[in-house]
Amino acid sequence: MRLVRLIANLGYGSQKDVKMLLKQGRVTRADGSVLSDGDKVDHADIRLDGQGLDPPQGSVLMLHKPAGYTCSTSDPGRVVYELLPERFEYRNPIIAPVGRLDRDTTGLLLLTDDGQLLHRIISPKADVPKVYEAALARPLTGEEAGVFASGTLMLKSERTPLLPATLEVLGETRARLTIREGRYHQIRRMFAAVGNHVETLHRVSIGGLTLGTLEEGDWRLLDAGEVASVFATAS
Ligand code: URA
Repeated sequence: MRLVRLIANLGYGSQKDVKMLLKQGRVTRADGSVLSDGDKVDHADIRLDGQGLDPPQGSVLMLHKPAGYTCSTSDPGRVVYELLPERFEYRNPIIAPVGRLDRDTTGLLLLTDDGQLLHRIISPKADVPKVYEAALARPLTGEEAGVFASGTLMLKSERTPLLPATLEVLGETRARLTIREGRYHQIRRMFAAVGNHVETLHRVSIGGLTLGTLEEGDWRLLDAGEVASVFATAS
């Protein structure tokens, strides 16, 4: 892709704006040599006003989502995009969440502008396990693991039963749940179906990828090995 389009697609301005940046000699290689539109150059070698560019198209980010943010661009309240650099809102293609977390769910959220990868991760065929920890309003009864593992649990207004899910008891009112699909408010509705209520919900991992030490509200770029680890536990 030519430089003007590449830089404009990253949200630095219109193609007209970026042409002007090139004309002004503000787009250079790391060694300071001035670039022009037709130059072939590695993304990592491009500087704008001496600064490296934002992550290239095809990048995958992980965000430690706090409660109170929705995975939407148009919600009237706070949205996860506020936690990323403002310029990301102007990227084309847009960086989109890989599946959604509810406003009050915290934890691991992936975002990417790679549509194929996004669909590969969320497709039921990919069979990527997602692990959540839930704090519940009422003590567990001991029945839940069997109901969730049965493969017969029907949620209201769904046409097919849920795939088997694995529940681990962490405490009287705390559980870890592994699911392999992503239906609307799935975990909250699963616990509602067994007479309980989810008070807090946190996504711990997607496939073999965990948040590690990433602080709540922070994000970082994933490398290729980390992206591959999402599929590492798929059967
Ligand atoms: N299940 C839910 O109920 N909410 C989420 O955010 C994710 C899974």
